[in-house]
Amino acid sequence: MCGIVGYIGKSEKAIPFLLQGLEKLEYRGYDSSGIAILNQNEIKIIKKQGRLKVIKDILDGKKELHSHLVIGHKRWATHGNHSDVNAHPHLSKSGKISVVHNGIIENYINLKKDLTKKGYEFKSDTDTEVVAQLLDSLYNGDMFETIKKATQLLEGSFALGIICADYPDTLFAAKKDSPLIIGLGENENYIASDIPAVLSKTRKICRLKEKQIAVLKNSDINIFDFNGNKAKMEISEINWNVNAAEKNNYDHFMIKEIMEQPEVLNATISPRLKDYKIKLDNLNFNEEYLKNLNKISIVACGSAYHVGCVAKYFMEELIKKPVEVELASEFRYRSPIVDKNTLVIIISQSGETADSLAALREAKKLGARVLSVVNVVGSSIANESDDVLYTWAGPEIAVATTKAYSTQLSLMYLIALYISKTLGKITDDNYKDIIKNIESIPEKITAILKKSSSIEEIAKKYYQTEKIFFIGRTLDYAVCMEASLKLKEISYIHSEAYAAGELKHGTISLIDDKTLVIALATQDELFDKTISNIREVKSRGATILLVTTEDKMDKISEIADDVIYVPKISNILSPSLSVVPMQLLSYYVAKFRGCDIDKPRNLAKSVTVE
Ligand code: G6P
Repeated sequence: MCGIVGYIGKSEKAIPFLLQGLEKLEYRGYDSSGIAILNQNEIKIIKKQGRLKVIKDILDGKKELHSHLVIGHKRWATHGNHSDVNAHPHLSKSGKISVVHNGIIENYINLKKDLTKKGYEFKSDTDTEVVAQLLDSLYNGDMFETIKKATQLLEGSFALGIICADYPDTLFAAKKDSPLIIGLGENENYIASDIPAVLSKTRKICRLKEKQIAVLKNSDINIFDFNGNKAKMEISEINWNVNAAEKNNYDHFMIKEIMEQPEVLNATISPRLKDYKIKLDNLNFNEEYLKNLNKISIVACGSAYHVGCVAKYFMEELIKKPVEVELASEFRYRSPIVDKNTLVIIISQSGETADSLAALREAKKLGARVLSVVNVVGSSIANESDDVLYTWAGPEIAVATTKAYSTQLSLMYLIALYISKTLGKITDDNYKDIIKNIESIPEKITAILKKSSSIEEIAKKYYQTEKIFFIGRTLDYAVCMEASLKLKEISYIHSEAYAAGELKHGTISLIDDKTLVIALATQDELFDKTISNIREVKSRGATILLVTTEDKMDKISEIADDVIYVPKISNILSPSLSVVPMQLLSYYVAKFRGCDIDKPRNLAKSVTVE
């Protein structure tokens, strides 16, 4: 959510780095783009509504616009619409200070009132311009002291990149509740919202911790807390393959990431399974602790929440304790019944989602132990959890998640089995059978992916449909939620996920001959029930696309207009397979509709505002 990049170093390298860094962060927002350049002791700003290309075209051929100190921004609008004037960077009244920001300044209205009384005028509707003017009003010639004072006055969340015309050799940054990393180069240094922005330059990074200010020079970086005390800089080495964050020969990141699933699932599962033993990194739940657990509470947002919805079904079946799933944005504002006998599991790809982070803090305050399932190493959620298990999905760039969802799900299976085994709630045979089946997931997904052209054909047939229902029972219903979200977010077709048995309680009135019903029926014991529900919608004119397992081939009658078969696997594991054709279907439908698949309208990947 909003992408920040900053550079201090050599003038010939600054703008190319900034542009390519911003390009890598486009997934964080793409309502507008802008850069601020310190050029001959004067700050020049170029900012425009729309994609980065607009800025690139303006800069093209303008050789006079060079600088060794620059900051840039990609915006996901929160305060003020998408417009040139609301785009970042913002410039202070004196013209001396420029700011890029990710987050929300919650007290900006009060600050704006005070600043207005002092004679400040505001050009934009943003909360960020208030930061620029606040810094201006506090500035006494000492920029570090000014930033320190401002951080005491700002409420809400912020990752800031700041330049000051009086400090041509310094790039400043500050962080509270929004991610910011520092990249360490050779006689040049960088700031960015996320690692892909700096990966072409360096693998050495430092994640700013909460309430820290960074002061970067060409060959020197110092970090302080908001009180001005020097802090230790913890440097980590990124071991990703650079290709992991590139599209390579694929048309879109989304399809590349769908295709990567067998590989990243292997990376997530196999190091944790040996000779039928599950070893969850350093996680150690002793039997006593698990016995005393009253419940497990899974808290997350978006697709990660949908992973929780699937997990509830199999966790309760395997562990025999209540499992609740809740949206983080709801959990944090009600009075959840959570205490030391609750295990709270936070699921998050980015590890930075504002609501999930706030829910984590709330759960800890209430005394719960928090385990997080996170993709981004060292992210805020990972850092603040009692225990963390990483999904090894690698960087996920497409806004619509695919491989992160699958790897999160695979870890939830391992956690459930581990707890079930420790509590003695599963027979040896059943345990071994499920493990064997888990090990077969990557290979079975490979088989599904090999048939992607047949799913493309189905997409071609239905991409103009404007009304789609996904129906299923239990685990299939939970997968329907993700399938429906995937389709909506990238193709803009309105769809709904419904528990197959619930449709007749009102919503069936929406079914007509223009409706496509995608029915998931992978659960053996519920297959006939779902088929009955299909008959109900079929007789109201709906077209049916059925998703089921290969062993049901001879049971399928003329009822379905099209069928997608997935390999047979243990019932509880079927979501890990059935979600894959749904991802492919959404992808191809969106492609036939000519949508901007990796950057759907109004969305951003990392939602660091509430
Ligand atoms: C955004 C993304 C979703 C994601 C959700 C939660 O809405 O578009 O794909 O599931 O945030 O993000 P997290 O990083 O916490 O998994």
